Amino acid sequence: MITEHLFKKYLMLCFLLASGIFCFAQVEPVTLSEQSSHCIQCHGNRYYKFHNKVTGSEVKKLMNPYYFIDSTKYVQAIHSFFSCEDCHAADYVNYPHPSELKLEPKLSCIDCHGGDETFAKYQFDQMAEEVANSVHKQAFGEQFKCEMCHDLHSYKLGARKENSKITEIVKQDNEMCLSCHNNLSKYQILTDNQKPELLKTHEWLPNQELHFLNVRCIECHTPVTDTVMVSHKILPKEKAVHLCSDCHSTNSILRDKLYKYAAIQSRNEGGYYNSVILNEAYVIGANRNKYFNIISLLILGLALGGISLHIAARIINKK
Ligand code: HEC
Ligand code: HEC
Ligand code: HEC
Ligand code: HEC
Ligand code: HEC
Ligand code: HEC
Ligand code: HEC
Repeated sequence: MITEHLFKKYLMLCFLLASGIFCFAQVEPVTLSEQSSHCIQCHGNRYYKFHNKVTGSEVKKLMNPYYFIDSTKYVQAIHSFFSCEDCHAADYVNYPHPSELKLEPKLSCIDCHGGDETFAKYQFDQMAEEVANSVHKQAFGEQFKCEMCHDLHSYKLGARKENSKITEIVKQDNEMCLSCHNNLSKYQILTDNQKPELLKTHEWLPNQELHFLNVRCIECHTPVTDTVMVSHKILPKEKAVHLCSDCHSTNSILRDKLYKYAAIQSRNEGGYYNSVILNEAYVIGANRNKYFNIISLLILGLALGGISLHIAARIINKK
């Protein structure tokens, strides 16, 4: 009796402990490492403070907005498990930063992911090849790096993530292009040319605002391809999509681009034709459901049958 009682208590205790650990594991937020916190003290704020050894005074100054690292976004990013010093020289702990650090080469995606089997599904090497064939790389060569679009301090997966909302993916992905195409300073790191006004160049598109909230720049500016999940080959402007029917049709290019992951997912789950498009957006002309097709055929068949019966009956009755 007693042993049974003790055993029950023991079980109960184990259960509580296990659920405690489970809950703890669930709620424990990703936090910055001690070293990253030190850097974030300055780089995570709009201003920074330091002790000026020469004058002996405390100084407070504005942080260069391009060197601002959003700590909330940092802890949510794919690479948040890294400390700053995993990618930046440890000597950055000192301020003023040693000036030669400015010349330090930075690790890029391919330095860590190139040829790595673990990451084969992300097709890094193919991405690099596509980028090499894009208008940007051809115009600017080495200067145009992956990081021009993918900010390592905030980079998250978009369309591949399950249950991603289309509008959020669109926003995140378009921000990559707009961070430059809507920002003269960043644009002019690369060229002294005038930046084309996007609203002007896309005037031919009706309801521009609605379109830019529902489709990505890359929908129109990259080719449809089977070989990579996200084409990185930005084409010259003459080759951009401007036919409405490329999207507004049953055979919409959106199925092979924006809705690609979701379409694969829903195909695997045995959902119905174009369900993703139906759930997420109503793209005029692109929305068709095979059950509706079957039902409408059935109705048509019944109607035709009814009419023929009726005609037959009248002919027979006349006689
Ligand atoms: C006391 C504030 C402060 C701290 C702490 C600090 N930084 Fe900085 N950092 C700055 C400022 C200000 C700049 C702008 C350039 C300058 O004034 O030297 C900067 C510039 C940089 C740059 C850009 C360098 C360039 O010019 O290309 C990098 C990278 C950087 N910091 C990384 C780090 C890392 C990593 C840490 C933590 C190990 C860190 N910083 C800690 C204030 C700080
Ligand atoms: C996974 C690698 C990685 C980690 C981790 C990382 N950085 Fe960076 N960081 C980079 C790369 C690459 C660049 C250069 C980006 C570019 O050239 O556009 C950079 C640039 C910077 C810059 C200069 C901005 C600029 O445009 O030149 C600052 C400041 C900076 N990092 C601070 C930090 C701080 C602070 C942390 C930690 C909280 C951190 N970084 C963590 C890879 C990393
Ligand atoms: C300093 C090395 C380093 C750099 C630079 C780097 N990564 Fe990573 N990346 C990693 C490591 C390590 C992982 C985590 C592996 C794991 O989860 O086992 C990772 C994970 C990933 C993942 C997988 C996330 C997941 O949950 O499956 C993607 C996608 C990714 N990185 C993209 C990039 C891109 C794009 C760049 C360049 C903009 C980049 N990485 C730069 C080291 C790096
Ligand atoms: C012109 C902007 C741009 C450049 C440059 C760029 N990318 Fe991308 N990348 C994107 C966009 C947009 C996406 C789509 C993100 C999403 O929604 O999944 C993406 C997605 C990715 C993904 C995720 C693919 C997946 O299947 O989920 C990887 C990995 C990646 N890029 C690697 C790279 C590498 C490596 C480089 C440099 C050789 C690079 N990117 C350069 C814009 C760019
Ligand atoms: C619906 C398709 C479509 C979408 C979405 C789209 N574009 Fe375009 N874009 C075009 C077409 C077509 C042209 C060529 C227009 C012309 O030559 O008159 C073009 C031209 C451009 C040009 C060249 C401008 C010039 O005058 O040199 C740039 C840059 C550009 N787009 C960037 C973007 C960016 C950034 C986004 C996302 C915010 C975007 N586009 C979204 C179809 C699109
Ligand atoms: C870091 C800045 C930067 C980023 C990020 C960037 N671009 Fe560009 N893009 C440029 C510059 C600069 C040019 C002008 C190229 C030239 O002068 O030949 C350009 C040119 C273009 C053109 C016109 C090509 C032509 O034939 O004239 C298109 C289209 C374009 N970009 C689309 C995009 C898309 C789509 C994205 C996001 C996936 C993107 N860009 C991201 C800087 C950028
Ligand atoms: C890259 C794909 C793409 C191209 C190209 C495209 N559209 Fe669209 N269009 C969409 C999407 C996605 C929506 C948003 C559907 C929604 O309301 O959620 C949309 C919405 C619209 C709407 C608004 C419908 C409403 O509900 O108010 C009109 C009108 C429209 N498009 C007309 C056009 C015309 C005309 C063209 C050619 C000049 C064109 N579109 C080219 C994808 C595209």
